[in-house]
Amino acid sequence: MLPFKIPEFNLPLASCTVFWRIIQEILNWLKELREKHGSVFRIWFGKDLMVMFSDPEDIKQLLGNNQLLTKSRNYELLEPWLGKGLLTNGGESWHRRRKLLTPGFHFRILGEFKEPMEENCRILVRRLKTKADGESFDIYPYITLFALDAICETAMGIKKHAQLQSDSEYVQAVQSICRVMHKQSFSFWQRLNVFFKHTKPGKEREAALKVLHDETNRVIKQRREQLIQERNESRPEADQDDIGVKRRLAFLDMLLLSQMEGGAELSDTDIREEVDTFMFEGHDTTSSAIAFALSLLSKNPEVQQRAFEEACELEGSEKESMPYLEAVIKETLRIYPSVPFFSRKVLEDLQVGKLTVRKGASISCLIYMLHRDPNNFPDPERFNPDRFLYNEKQMHPFAFAAFSAGPRNCIGQKFAMLELKTSLSMLLRSYRFLADEDHQPKPLAELVTKSGNGIRLRILPRD
Ligand code: HEM
Repeated sequence: MLPFKIPEFNLPLASCTVFWRIIQEILNWLKELREKHGSVFRIWFGKDLMVMFSDPEDIKQLLGNNQLLTKSRNYELLEPWLGKGLLTNGGESWHRRRKLLTPGFHFRILGEFKEPMEENCRILVRRLKTKADGESFDIYPYITLFALDAICETAMGIKKHAQLQSDSEYVQAVQSICRVMHKQSFSFWQRLNVFFKHTKPGKEREAALKVLHDETNRVIKQRREQLIQERNESRPEADQDDIGVKRRLAFLDMLLLSQMEGGAELSDTDIREEVDTFMFEGHDTTSSAIAFALSLLSKNPEVQQRAFEEACELEGSEKESMPYLEAVIKETLRIYPSVPFFSRKVLEDLQVGKLTVRKGASISCLIYMLHRDPNNFPDPERFNPDRFLYNEKQMHPFAFAAFSAGPRNCIGQKFAMLELKTSLSMLLRSYRFLADEDHQPKPLAELVTKSGNGIRLRILPRD
């Protein structure tokens, strides 16, 4: 057993009041627990034991451990949607898929993504014109449609035009399923699928799943047809670039061609699961980061001015270095990490420092709390990108882990940084972002960190 001194919280069938408080305020609640009990504590969710860690040295040991690659039971809730895609998969099957998919995010391919990202950002800038009157509005819905278009047009090779429709059924369905699954993860009875599917949230989940799967099937069908047509029409030289080097394939093309050529033995369901995973991870995480960055910039005009000046000076360098904007992005992800915590199943007794976590339990890395460790980040709630410009070398190497680390780190992190730099620099060159003094985002951990009351700010055009 774990040493007795570790604080323990029992949530078997928590009372309604506790239940609702936990769901709505889980981040504040975990923050309070960390402040009260230190960086390690454990929580029982019914019969499941979860040991929570947020000390950088512990996080280093956990993320570097090659025996700790299986996701915890919580991720099973995602399976009706994402199946055994890269995020939820484990074991040998995960390893094979990771190897297959990694080249789809090679830097040469990413270079080709900048242009479609910029094109979609120009549409975003045009859409925001109607809001550029200094009045407060919620920018989140605009950002999320941009991010959806960006992932579809790059990794999937499909023009979705979500921004040109007034509303996106797909985005609504993602929001609905994330909300339902978040509640499910804290409720014993909602985890029993036999009962759950007949309840109101169960029916909501089914309706969302239909929209999500119909959409991914449509994307795959459309791209497969285009690919067959392109292949029939083109000569072999079309697979090479100007200097005769074989072109790298974008994510979905790689999966489809692997299937057509029989190399990787992928079924249609395997492909759909990966497309579902990357459509979700590839747009929800970046929308969260872009929107929170704009909110923080609107409240910190000096930081915004420095970022704007760099965006003008280094226009076109988004693929290369933009040191200040990169520091702004890291500082945003420190305060509002898009993935606030993630967990693993402990398959063999595990030693973390002096602690033994027994086989059968799960561990969770509380990134939201790790990023608020005052030893590495003095005055942790203060938005101060200079920390990453001048003090990064003094930080513990695992003090910042927004993209996780080790073998199961974020496969899309370079893609995400390119999208964030491209969109934020173009937005900063187009508009001044002003604070709505009456609005403070309320971070919620619905798989991805969202603001419960939107991201309200004001904008004015730059001259
Ligand atoms: C600001 C943006 C992003 C952040 C902060 C972020 C963060 C993370 C984190 C923390 C994990 C580990 C999750 C876990 O262990 O459960 C992860 C995994 C993953 N991310 Fe990202 N992500 C971002 C953007 C993206 C994008 C743009 C894509 C795709 C284009 C992507 C695809 C994935 C996938 C497929 C995994 C699972 C990898 C595996 O287990 O092998 N992410 N991400």
